[in-house]
Amino acid sequence: MESIVLIGFMGSGKTTVGISLSYKLQCTLNDTDKMIEKQEGWSISEIFAAKGEPYFRKEETRLLEKLKEKKGRQIYSVGGGTPLREENRRLLGELGRVVYLKVSPETVYERLKGDVTRPLLQGDDPMGKIKTLLHEREDLYRRAADEVICVDGKKTPQVAEEILALLKQNGDEA
Ligand code: S3P
Repeated sequence: MESIVLIGFMGSGKTTVGISLSYKLQCTLNDTDKMIEKQEGWSISEIFAAKGEPYFRKEETRLLEKLKEKKGRQIYSVGGGTPLREENRRLLGELGRVVYLKVSPETVYERLKGDVTRPLLQGDDPMGKIKTLLHEREDLYRRAADEVICVDGKKTPQVAEEILALLKQNGDEA
């Protein structure tokens, strides 16, 4: 059975859906943001502020390389910017079946209003930032993905069920 890799914009629900899938399938969730925070001993915001985004991006790629060594079925939830690098898109595909959680700017805005943990959305005009980034990234998310699921208006259990149904339909006997 193939591992599942969740990609998508900030606020698309990668972590919560990942938790749900890990319970349902009884396998480990590997949340790359959390793993990098643990490794560095700092939050993502602190890493961005102290070491800069390029450093964080390098660590993301290094971690994906390491995750390839994992044995057995895994669930992976990766940061919203991970699929931007071509090298990462290749690595994600090597880790498992890549599922893109597609979300509208309105849903992201509603879910992340007041959030202070995403450095890329801080400051004035968060909605403008969400729209610009989503627009820039949409094509790359699609390119990285084997499956696409729209998450607007859906709760976590429904998204998890849809993923399992889709994987089954497309040949995985999960
Ligand atoms: C980022 C998304 C964040 C985190 C960092 C950068 C991005 O992860 O990796 O703040 O570039 O979209 P989530 O998608 O889990 O919020």
